[in-house]
Amino acid sequence: MTKSGSGADIGVYGLGTMGSALALNLADHGFDVAVCNREVNWISEFVREAGPLGDKLIPAETLEAFVTAIAKPRSILFMIPSGAPMDAMIAAITPLLEKGDTIIDGGNADFNATRRRSAGMDDTGLHYVGMGVSGGEEGARHGPSMMVGGSDHSWQQMRPMVEAIAAKFEGEPCVAHLGPDGAGHFVKTVHNGIEYADMQMIAEIYGMLRDAGGQGAEEIGALMERWQDGPLSSYLIEVSAAALQSTDNKTGQPMVDVIRDQAGQKGTGRWTLIEALKMGQSASTIEAAVGARGWSSEKDTRVMAEPLLAACVQDVGMPCDDDLEMAMLAGRILAHAQGFRILNAASEEFDWALDMAQISEIWRAGCIIRSTLLDEFAEAFRNDLPAGHLILAPAMRARLDDSIGALRRVVAAAVSLGVAVPALSASLAWFDTMRRGRGTANLIQAQRDFFGHHGFDRVEESGKFHGDWNALA
Ligand code: 6PG
Repeated sequence: MTKSGSGADIGVYGLGTMGSALALNLADHGFDVAVCNREVNWISEFVREAGPLGDKLIPAETLEAFVTAIAKPRSILFMIPSGAPMDAMIAAITPLLEKGDTIIDGGNADFNATRRRSAGMDDTGLHYVGMGVSGGEEGARHGPSMMVGGSDHSWQQMRPMVEAIAAKFEGEPCVAHLGPDGAGHFVKTVHNGIEYADMQMIAEIYGMLRDAGGQGAEEIGALMERWQDGPLSSYLIEVSAAALQSTDNKTGQPMVDVIRDQAGQKGTGRWTLIEALKMGQSASTIEAAVGARGWSSEKDTRVMAEPLLAACVQDVGMPCDDDLEMAMLAGRILAHAQGFRILNAASEEFDWALDMAQISEIWRAGCIIRSTLLDEFAEAFRNDLPAGHLILAPAMRARLDDSIGALRRVVAAAVSLGVAVPALSASLAWFDTMRRGRGTANLIQAQRDFFGHHGFDRVEESGKFHGDWNALA
């Protein structure tokens, strides 16, 4: 898309960690970037600290100056908190914009808000893009993975810039236009749900090695470092291995041993579940991971309960290291499969035509869940999948054949040893549910009909039926 007149290629509003890293990344790739921030004094400081890249930055201290500095049709990237501040910003800036201009929200926004905001632009000639950006500060500065929603018009406008700054996997940019309105933010939300699940399963394996295996952080970190050479190779294993082997300068103890065991969360994992449940889906591994963060916050209760509640454990011995590695692999495949099922359901619900292979491809580099497995998922999605189910792809079935036994042994050992592995065991429960043609919901239906006359389908005949239930004694 040709730009009219002179001016910056893009504007970046919000010079916090992510906004400033993206602005510098854009400048590094030769784009002129207008920059603005609510705290005006940050702007000149940011430009000064950018060194030679400062030549590509156009500081603007007011919204009017900021908008004027950008060539038309304008692309304006906002990296600000996604709730009320984003709505206030839209109200303030839209009167200054012209037809064809695009507002891009690069934060972790609730896709429902993105859909609402984008519908609000429908008759204005303005465009609204929800763009998921993954990779943290380092990714934003040197190559994030980006999940873009919004109109084709906006995509054409921003494509050269986002493709230039994105992480590359074998030369391919890890960014794509995934669908209209909230598609980009939805995919980023599910990315984060999978991120929660993966982090939790790694923490569960750490917990087994620490609490049942009696190993120290460094030793566990060294084991995970070795896993980087196998099928688990991924950013999250790399980070965990490095974190476990880091030492606290103050005490000389492993860093992880001085950190309180209470996990924070900003909401994206929870949103994944809420949206999945609304669509009648369940993502057990992600649910377990979100739930575990909730449990972790009950620190005082846990400390009080420890001497009071009997463990009744059975010392069955620790699973071998290879089993732990393979259990993590099975859990990772199943968590991703659940995430992709949610994406499938949303794609149908909102008519987005999401391309699962493309999503796998743009997650292969730059993002937090990048791993060697994602290339295998992309390949599986590119070939025909039975009914679109990742776990039925021949290559994934082979991976699961090799790893499910280990997941079973690890979960069984954890249960006997009294170590909580909620996400690993939830993965296994889902797998065991999905591999059985005949489940147990016939009894649920019987119960519902018994007490509520809700009716049921019969195995051999279509129609709604009621049972001849024996009266209660
Ligand atoms: C990413 C991350 C990023 C951030 C999350 C963490 O893809 O770069 O997901 O968006 O780490 O906000 O979320 P919690 O604070 O909820 O763990």
